[in-house]
Amino acid sequence: MERIRILKKFEPKRENLLLLLHALQKNNRQNYLMEEDLKSAAQYLSLPPSLVHGAATFYSMYSLKPRGQYIVRICQSPPCHQMGSSDLIEEASRALGVEVGETTPDGLFTLETSECLGICGVAPAMTVNEEVHGNLTPERVRAIFSEKRRAK
Ligand code: FES
Repeated sequence: MERIRILKKFEPKRENLLLLLHALQKNNRQNYLMEEDLKSAAQYLSLPPSLVHGAATFYSMYSLKPRGQYIVRICQSPPCHQMGSSDLIEEASRALGVEVGETTPDGLFTLETSECLGICGVAPAMTVNEEVHGNLTPERVRAIFSEKRRAK
């Protein structure tokens, strides 16, 4: 079974918990961790289920509810904020027709905000899954979404 195959890629050590959760989430077509994923991770690492659940809810990179194929995360930490990230969030929300935390009805995009993405030199910044985009304008954000839609 797929879940077991993923678990077995990791040594059953506590310090592998975050990587393991990441791999399980990445394997899910809707980009989230199912209850069964958390249970399996706890069992495999011999950890209390509450600890695994706590990690999955503490870190914003994990989700316990279904998300879109593309996770859009716009940085709202001070350097990006000063460079206009609020305008980007507004434009993204308008372009996608969803509020922050929501997924488009076609299941393509989930809009999220994030703390510093570690690329303040190119603020304002956002990520789309693993892709990093900097020096953004509202127009560029809209164009990126159109490119993704066309690529479908
Ligand atoms: S503050 Fe936005 S990337 Fe660092």
